[in-house]
Amino acid sequence: DWTPASFIESTVAQLKEKLGNDKVVLGLSGGVDSTVAGVLLNRAIGKNLTCIFVDNGLLRKNEFEAVLDSYKHMGLNVIGVDAKQKFWNDLAGITDPEQKRKVIGRDFIEVFDVEAHKIQEVKWLAQGTIYPDVIESVSVNGPSATIKSHHNVGGLPEKMKLKVVEPLNLLFKDEVRRVGKALGIRDELLGRHPFPGPGLGIRILSDVTPEKVRILQEADAIFINGLKEWKLYDQVWQAGVMLLPVQSVGVMGDERTYENVVALRAVMSTDGMTADWVHLPYEFLAKMSNEIINKVRGINRVVYDISSKPPATIEWE
Ligand code: XMP
Repeated sequence: DWTPASFIESTVAQLKEKLGNDKVVLGLSGGVDSTVAGVLLNRAIGKNLTCIFVDNGLLRKNEFEAVLDSYKHMGLNVIGVDAKQKFWNDLAGITDPEQKRKVIGRDFIEVFDVEAHKIQEVKWLAQGTIYPDVIESVSVNGPSATIKSHHNVGGLPEKMKLKVVEPLNLLFKDEVRRVGKALGIRDELLGRHPFPGPGLGIRILSDVTPEKVRILQEADAIFINGLKEWKLYDQVWQAGVMLLPVQSVGVMGDERTYENVVALRAVMSTDGMTADWVHLPYEFLAKMSNEIINKVRGINRVVYDISSKPPATIEWE
């Protein structure tokens, strides 16, 4: 019978056997899968595992510091890399969504490669690939194959000439969460919403600038914290804010303003392939709108996205 405890026991034993005294590198994203993979490998090989967590300048507000801190508390041997400026420089002026994804994916590989090569004699690249990722990348030849391959940094193993180890590649998401819980990972981390690899880069419609990242981080933090305070976070599959490339007229005191519009998005889904917009309470939306407009300099209008997938997608880019 499959239980998290038996899975952990047999996987740790297999990993010890397979990896021996070899050095392993793993990219952490702050997401559930890579975190569980990291903790599991840490149990098996301890300090022979080096984790790399890259700040691409497109993460949520305070995410890098907070997540890095919890990784350290979990006892992981983790290197945090501040690469914000590189990503922002390389994204300057780029408006096409696929082009943004390419730049972000390429920069990630470059940064990761440099850091990984600082590890003496690293032999293995560990990945938090789970079973649905495996199926999807063999059966789908459409955009989502690209999505997953970026998500799991496809291209990295070839470039780095490393052997790949994927301890979660037979598990479904709910099993990964159960294993994570049995490994002692906090519920707060295990219950996190999915977040796209390209991060806020594909939630800033049009070109990315550090100032737009700041505006969006502020608005997003208000929305996500609001969902948590109102006990709505766990009832939603994914939520976020989009910064639209539109200015609209507003009024503040007796001044006219001409500032940014953000769209709030919250969806229910099981796998991201289809999704329904969530009927959030009006009182909650009213509160969020007031708070965002009053607190975030540069935003004077908030709208709520009431589109389902298909035909809309979850992200706007
Ligand atoms: P869409 O917008 O296609 O999103 O309905 C479906 C799910 O996939 C996530 N997503 C991405 N994840 N790299 C990722 O790692 C990407 O380029 C990407 N694009 C979309 C999205 O957040 C949602 O969970």
